[in-house]
Amino acid sequence: MLKVIVVKDYAELSKKGAEIIANTIKENEKPILGLATGSSPIGTYQELIKMHNEGSLSFKNVSSYNLDEYCGISIEHPQSYYYFMHEQLFNHVDMDEANVHIPSASGQDLEADCKKYNDALHQVEIDLQLLGIGSNGHIGFNEPGTPFDQETFVVKLAEGTRQDNKRFFNSIDEVPTHAMTMGINNIMQAKKILMLISGSGKADTVVRLLSGEITTDFPASILHNHPDCTVIIDEAAYAKIK
Ligand code: F6R
Repeated sequence: MLKVIVVKDYAELSKKGAEIIANTIKENEKPILGLATGSSPIGTYQELIKMHNEGSLSFKNVSSYNLDEYCGISIEHPQSYYYFMHEQLFNHVDMDEANVHIPSASGQDLEADCKKYNDALHQVEIDLQLLGIGSNGHIGFNEPGTPFDQETFVVKLAEGTRQDNKRFFNSIDEVPTHAMTMGINNIMQAKKILMLISGSGKADTVVRLLSGEITTDFPASILHNHPDCTVIIDEAAYAKIK
């Protein structure tokens, strides 16, 4: 069962998201977060930075594991997820860089890179995994058709996903064709999952998610089987739910 929280807009979604993450950080001596990139969590990261600046939240003991990273672009590339995480969160809080883990898919041996990241994930238990959702239901970059028992792997991005992400690049040709991502099984191991869904562009996605049908054609549907998954949805994304 998913716990659904409907909020007015993106600002409220970001506040609520940050509140839940801050609670996880405060409740654990050495909190381990699974983090996401994309548009959905940016406001939440800003709220967390605000709490840090006000002195009510420290990231000193936080470790993080990111969901995914593009293949074939360097970490200095402004669209790399390494760059994104530092720009949007890590550079603005007291996070210890040694505790930051982001898939690294720039090596010569992608299979070895995946195994290394997967082995690292098996050493820890993520307290809270933050997720966005692709319009096709992907989580991380687990595109439709990915088996539910999938672990960290290199994925060929769906054409629709490349189109969705084109807005961040100069042209479609610059959008990477592949990414390294935690698998669905890695994601499902987290103690708690928090998904953020915002905007009218995700309204059909929300209908499919909340239909309750569990199918590999819509990867996020597996979250119905997670024991502790909260989904925060703003009114624009919730608009097609009767
Ligand atoms: C990001 C990620 C993706 C995004 C999804 C939604 O690390 O794994 O699954 O969460 O593509 O992206 P936005 O939030 O930009 O709509």
